[in-house]
Amino acid sequence: MIVSPFRPRTTLLAAGILAPLAYFLLYHLRPAWHNDGFDFHRLDYHDLADYPYPAADASTKVHLVVASTQEDDIDWVWNLRVPNMQVIRYVSDNASAHYHPPVAKGREALMYFRYISEFYDALPDISIFIHAHERPWHMDPALHQSMTFALSRLDLQQVKRRGYYNLRTNWQNACPDWINTTKTAAESVKQEEPWVKGAFQATFGDGVEVPEILAGPCCSQFAVTREAIRSRPREQYERAERWLVATGWTDYIVGRVWEHLWPYLFMGKSVDCALEYRSFCRFYGVCFEGPERLAEYNDVWDKREQWRESTEFLREVWRPARAGLARAVMAKYTLWLEDTLAAAVERGKSMSLREQAWEDTTQWIPR
Ligand SMILES: *[C@@H]1O[C@H](CO)[C@@H](O)[C@H](O)[C@H]1NC(C)=O
Ligand SMILES: *[C@@H]1O[C@H](CO)[C@@H](O)[C@H](O)[C@H]1NC(C)=O
Repeated sequence: MIVSPFRPRTTLLAAGILAPLAYFLLYHLRPAWHNDGFDFHRLDYHDLADYPYPAADASTKVHLVVASTQEDDIDWVWNLRVPNMQVIRYVSDNASAHYHPPVAKGREALMYFRYISEFYDALPDISIFIHAHERPWHMDPALHQSMTFALSRLDLQQVKRRGYYNLRTNWQNACPDWINTTKTAAESVKQEEPWVKGAFQATFGDGVEVPEILAGPCCSQFAVTREAIRSRPREQYERAERWLVATGWTDYIVGRVWEHLWPYLFMGKSVDCALEYRSFCRFYGVCFEGPERLAEYNDVWDKREQWRESTEFLREVWRPARAGLARAVMAKYTLWLEDTLAAAVERGKSMSLREQAWEDTTQWIPR
């Protein structure tokens, strides 16, 4: 019998390299590859994106004012089915864009003011001011963290009734008393806090008393009526715009500061803190049984997000068993979240329930 001189090397090669490689491909890379980008949703997203309120809204005209940069993809806005809504896109970094701010700075605030100055005499019933992203981190889990979901379900008649409504409802780092304008930089641990007073005075004039406390949900996305905008003269907005153009403050600070000034600008209220679960019910038709249910929902959402990291591609390649477990747990949470949200949407079909919820969404804590 002739023994091939190559055989031991081949065997060695197979055992030493090919077998682990095959194992790696089959049990590490393949599942990670297969699962990459996979997400489990049972809810029919499109059903939830329908505008669910009466056709009376057909007479309500809306502008969706999008503050964007050139590279932002805003294609998602074309899927919205809000009646009579026109999209007005501002592009901060392209002076040739149809709508653009006077200079490329000041974050969304400068684009919002430019819009108001440009459209002051031709405003629709409601202007909704937003950023370009469909799934911003700051959109509430109870709104599926989705702008499509939020905008589709925003009840325009209630916005008309209230005048100004911040799209995010969460009180975190916001309500009921987040910004204290009397604090100095040395006293404050919040970056923008010591800057708010100066911005307030520059915007509203030295003669206006600066409220001690300013509070309201964050992140500068809101709906506002023509009447609320016109409660201040055009000059007020032009002045704010001029200040933003002239200021040497960083865009970051300007953006952060303005998050706290919108309620005062449009309603003359320094504190705008609607109860969250009531607010979801009244404005989005998402009616949880009570605050505890909403808290539970948010808690499960957070737990699910904590598992998500393990399912990232490279982590899954590294630890496929862990990723498999994470997927199973996330799938379980997702079912619970979607069932709970669907039940809240179902409850929200009750007009009397939503009418009851109005009460605590009009409350402002006076200071
Ligand atoms: C700026 O906007 C104009 C008009 O919409 C467009 O033709 C042009 O390509 C844009 N510039 C860049 C750099 O994208
Ligand atoms: C605001 O800050 C000042 C200075 O630290 C403090 O004296 C005051 O009590 C604070 N106001 C409120 C309402 O917390």
